[in-house]
Amino acid sequence: MTTQHRHILPDLAAMEALGQRIAARLQAGDVVALEGGLGAGKTTLARAVLAALGHSGEVPSPTFTIIETYDAPPLRIAVAHADFYRLDDPEEALEIGLDDYREGAALLAEWPQNAGGFDHEPGCLSIRLEKRSESGEDGRIAIARGGADWLERMP
Ligand SMILES: Nc1ncnc2c1ncn2[C@@H]1O[C@H](COP(=O)(O)OP(=O)(O)OP(=O)(O)O)[C@@H](O)[C@H]1O
Ligand SMILES: [Mg+2]
Repeated sequence: MTTQHRHILPDLAAMEALGQRIAARLQAGDVVALEGGLGAGKTTLARAVLAALGHSGEVPSPTFTIIETYDAPPLRIAVAHADFYRLDDPEEALEIGLDDYREGAALLAEWPQNAGGFDHEPGCLSIRLEKRSESGEDGRIAIARGGADWLERMP
């Protein structure tokens, strides 16, 4: 993986801007692995990426459905947005058909480690979100690391 790129995100506008930079570089087959604890901002960043790819309207959190899909067009590329929080075993990701959902699409994955993790994939961009304070009101820090395919296009 690439060396770490650290972004300070004081507010939602900064989160939005990071989402736009990720979206501009995203290709089918990539994974954006959104790491960080409860309320870290994973869904918020996923929504920013989807909006920048051309999605308008709601982006339900996939906490219960596990995977939500977005077609291209209207998006520039198709996206599968997953939240693996509820998986008990990485095998379940295959059982729900993750490989089929990923065909020709980019994957935005919350709680990626619950699906076995994606760091070994050259197309994986890992974004770890952390709160800057315990109150959670003072923004976030994002630590980005990319696989080999991301070397020339880190956000
Ligand atoms: N950069 C930011 N600065 C301030 N608040 C933020 C920032 N990013 C996200 N938030 C806020 O943090 C809250 C939680 O965000 P979000 O639901 O995206 O977290 P999550 O990581 O998806 O949580 P979960 O693990 O429950 O899925 C939201 O109210 C959101 O507006
Ligand atoms: Mg979420």
